[in-house]
Amino acid sequence: MWVAQLARFGPPDQAIALQEQSDPGEPGPGEVIVDAEFAPINPADVLNLEGKYGAEPPKLPMIPGAEGVGRIAKCGAEVSHVKPGDRVLLPGPGTWRERIKAPGKAVVALPEGVDPQQLAMLRVNPPTAYLMLHDFVPAKAGNWVIQNAANSGVGRCLIRLAREAGLRSVNIVRRAELIGPLHAFGGDVVLTDGPDLDVRVRAAIGGGVLPLAIDAVGGLATQRLARCVADDGTVVNYGLLSGEPCAIDGRETVFRNVSLRGFWLRRWFMVTPPLEIAALYRKLAGKIAEGTLHVEVEAVYPIRQIKQALAHAARGGRAGKVLLAFGAA
Ligand SMILES: NC(=O)c1ccc[n+]([C@@H]2O[C@H](COP(=O)([O-])OP(=O)(O)OC[C@H]3O[C@@H](n4cnc5c(N)ncnc54)[C@H](OP(=O)(O)O)[C@@H]3O)[C@@H](O)[C@H]2O)c1
Repeated sequence: MWVAQLARFGPPDQAIALQEQSDPGEPGPGEVIVDAEFAPINPADVLNLEGKYGAEPPKLPMIPGAEGVGRIAKCGAEVSHVKPGDRVLLPGPGTWRERIKAPGKAVVALPEGVDPQQLAMLRVNPPTAYLMLHDFVPAKAGNWVIQNAANSGVGRCLIRLAREAGLRSVNIVRRAELIGPLHAFGGDVVLTDGPDLDVRVRAAIGGGVLPLAIDAVGGLATQRLARCVADDGTVVNYGLLSGEPCAIDGRETVFRNVSLRGFWLRRWFMVTPPLEIAALYRKLAGKIAEGTLHVEVEAVYPIRQIKQALAHAARGGRAGKVLLAFGAA
């Protein structure tokens, strides 16, 4: 079976190596074997390959990949919640391989009849958007939320989940050609970023209440969002797409009591009971099934073309995600 391996950090398409490895064999008691179908390449994967992700770089060699979807091939004794043929979330990290042996309790069963490419993007971005919308500031119908990188996978989930919660969204992009499509997708206000962002946002929302900002960019983009939120408001940073640390001025934090908080999904996994995690995935898988959550896919590459796939995923200006397809797809 094909496995993507990272032995040294570097430019993703150069650092990755494809290896043929032997089959993981039979599942032991409590274990399952999963055949992978699809896995996305996320910005966090690109950073991981460059050695820039997390508080500490991961130990090498490693198999990258944080999420994906597949079907159960075999179940060991004592596994009762899934059976061979069931579609499941791939147990991550380490999903960029054709076949995975894992503890049965690490796989989450998924509904049938749902687009597997969309389900491959369920594990990371939808709960990230959901939790940032609901866990920091009470989602009060009629209030506004603002986010940057609004055309990203997280951003598109947030637009739809905000609408469902009765919130109105201000969506910031760096390319003017995205304004029309994001309006059509459900964004109430869509604006390009810039130094006068707060003035344009205030004009767009009138006297509306905007207590929450969601920041994927960092650097001065954090400050531009902080200026938009109400006094006592919260900026939640969850990504550093600019490569710069978050900048935030005392004018906001000291004189207006605006807080800067961080969100990391992996931490939520560490502190949340498994039943609660499974319940959130059931809810979000249902939203994919009904079409509320949908992320465009720009390209699908077979695992054997992982270098081309990584070079593509690392490019800006994409119209959607780049996915890897495995033997079972
Ligand atoms: N903290 C967590 O737990 C967590 C969980 C999930 C995701 N994330 C983070 O969320 C971010 C988005 O992930 P995703 O999977 O949703 O991304 P994605 O779908 O692959 O899209 C990438 C987005 O980033 C934008 N972008 C890239 N560089 C930028 C820059 N310098 N300034 C402004 N925008 C920029 C792109 O804009 P263009 O289309 O204009 O290129 C695009 O909207 C990433 O930083 C990721 O690491 C964090």
